[in-house]
Amino acid sequence: MSVQTVESIEGFRKVLDEERRAGRTVGLVPTMGFLHDGHASLMRRAAAECDVVAATIFVNPLQFAVSEDLSSYPRDLAADQRLAEAAGVTWLFAPPVEEMYPGDVHTTVTVAGESEGLEGEIRPTHFAGVATVVAKLCNIAGPCRAYFGEKDWQQLQVVRRMVADLSMPVEVVGCPIVREPDGLALSSRNAYLSAAERRAATVLHRALRAGADAADPVEAMRRVVAAEPLAELDYAEMRDGRLLVAARLGTTRLLDNLAWEGPSDNHKALEG
Ligand code: PAF
Repeated sequence: MSVQTVESIEGFRKVLDEERRAGRTVGLVPTMGFLHDGHASLMRRAAAECDVVAATIFVNPLQFAVSEDLSSYPRDLAADQRLAEAAGVTWLFAPPVEEMYPGDVHTTVTVAGESEGLEGEIRPTHFAGVATVVAKLCNIAGPCRAYFGEKDWQQLQVVRRMVADLSMPVEVVGCPIVREPDGLALSSRNAYLSAAERRAATVLHRALRAGADAADPVEAMRRVVAAEPLAELDYAEMRDGRLLVAARLGTTRLLDNLAWEGPSDNHKALEG
């Protein structure tokens, strides 16, 4: 079935209510568009696990600070429609800003704890913006499974916590990071990188790999990023068994993370 684009909240709510009434389960894939294979992997997973897949494309102003890239954030609805259709999406919700935020926003959702540190420290209003729009999208979509990428690992923790704390009828599914052959995690923001920055951007994955193998992962990650002249480290940290790194390549901020399983046997043998 070809993808159908809906712009109104009422219309999106109606079609998904009808899907459920017909006995079909709904998979929801919230995105900000400029879709790439990482998004397609979420959509394909949703299509494998749910009867019908709905994706949303909305560049959410609430999660951008005034100094950030809201107006220049890359957009291409026609290409997004093609990718979504090929990945098994039936309903695409692409509302204009006035539909989602018709006036001043007086109500926001704040998730303490999970939002703190890491991205939350560098972008203090970001996660309230994310939690608020995801709460709205879930309220509009209704009972569903919602798919999020692990690349934005802290975001995934924020969303999981919000859904649990607010008893939303949503099952959150985290999906693995999709990488380029050289290790760079797919991101819409990779489009901003110059050729030299693109080559240097593998430093995030290299840092994580070095961290995964080291007795002092944070120190190892910092050392790898410091050795790349085009990269400036925002943070390299470990939280809940995860190595997380964020760095700037020119004006582009990139994030990446990897599960930490402790130093490799090799390393333990050397130390022991
Ligand atoms: O990860 C994103 O693309 C966005 O933060 C999300 C979850 C769609 C909310 O705007």
